[in-house]
Amino acid sequence: DAPARESQRSLLEVMKTAMNFYRRELKTSPRAIGYLKKRGLSGEIAARFGIGYAPDGWQALQAVFPKYDEPALAEAGMVISNEAGRRYDRFRDRIMFPILDGKGNVIAFGGRILDAGEPKYLNSPETPLFEKGRELYGLPQARVAIRETGTVIVVEGYMDVVALAQFGVGNAVATLGTATTPTHVQKLLRQADHLVFCFDGDKAGRKAARRALEASLPQLADDKLVSFLFLPEEHDPDSFVRANGAQAFQDAAKNATPLGRFLLDTLAEDCDLATAEGRAKMVFVAKEMIPKISAPVLRLQLIRELAFAAQLSPEEVTSALGLAQAERS
Ligand code: GTP
Ligand code: MN
Ligand code: MN
Ligand code: MN
Ligand code: MN
Repeated sequence: DAPARESQRSLLEVMKTAMNFYRRELKTSPRAIGYLKKRGLSGEIAARFGIGYAPDGWQALQAVFPKYDEPALAEAGMVISNEAGRRYDRFRDRIMFPILDGKGNVIAFGGRILDAGEPKYLNSPETPLFEKGRELYGLPQARVAIRETGTVIVVEGYMDVVALAQFGVGNAVATLGTATTPTHVQKLLRQADHLVFCFDGDKAGRKAARRALEASLPQLADDKLVSFLFLPEEHDPDSFVRANGAQAFQDAAKNATPLGRFLLDTLAEDCDLATAEGRAKMVFVAKEMIPKISAPVLRLQLIRELAFAAQLSPEEVTSALGLAQAERS
């Protein structure tokens, strides 16, 4: 409806004005420029991603919003009110990463602290413009490279996307500090036939991969390939590409573990396949995963592999999973 559209427009206006302000502030902050340089980012790549700097002041945004009290500033998540009702800027003394929607509108920000401190990243709250489980950082910038390669790489962090782009790997996007959702996967598989998840090599990254696996199951198709690139423990995509170069990253992505393999390895984890109990447990755990696979032929393939590992027939596994037998002719 018209009033809702009108208010949406004023929120977008706020975000755009804020982004332009942060970009100007970056140009006059040697400290912020120094930080980006230290992280190896060129001015060109910073410009491509609209990276900026939120200065260190409680009401710095007043410079571009003379009506600092207008409701849109709070609705857009750019200001917070204290108990006394006094407003202040949400983002202060942070490197600012604008998050864009499919049309290139700024809908949110991620802000990184320059020094050590908590929280390391501060994101916009959910607003009428920004629903975290739907959006992916870097998608508009990656679109051409995704189309050219038929592949999209999903990473955890803003810096991973930007660093990969700087090294010529332009087809990476990031989930926004939240778990990968089926909506994310659906959105990406509409644009690419091959989806590579590449999370950090640490424990959190491995956990994120499990979540991504589960989010992918109901979105799979037999003509799509979802795979998982596991980096060495000490690396994330940013540090990996800096240490080893773009070719090494591309090679690793090409050799990523297909979802089916990862799923079977996950199922076999903590199961002693030398025992009947271990093999039974594996099939039991599979009941939560395999029936969710939306690619019918891949599902049959995995049932066959599971049956082999479980020392059962595919028919027995199918019935143990609570699935109907395929019709025989
Ligand atoms: P750098 O240290 O700048 O290289 O960031 P990173 O992306 O490597 O950070 P990390 O691997 O620790 O986290 C991955 C992603 O999780 C980040 O890019 C953020 O989106 C998110 N994240 C990390 N720390 C925080 C935090 O303190 N708060 C919130 N909300 N999100 C965070
Ligand atoms: Mn991490
Ligand atoms: Mn296809
Ligand atoms: Mn990381
Ligand atoms: Mn990092």
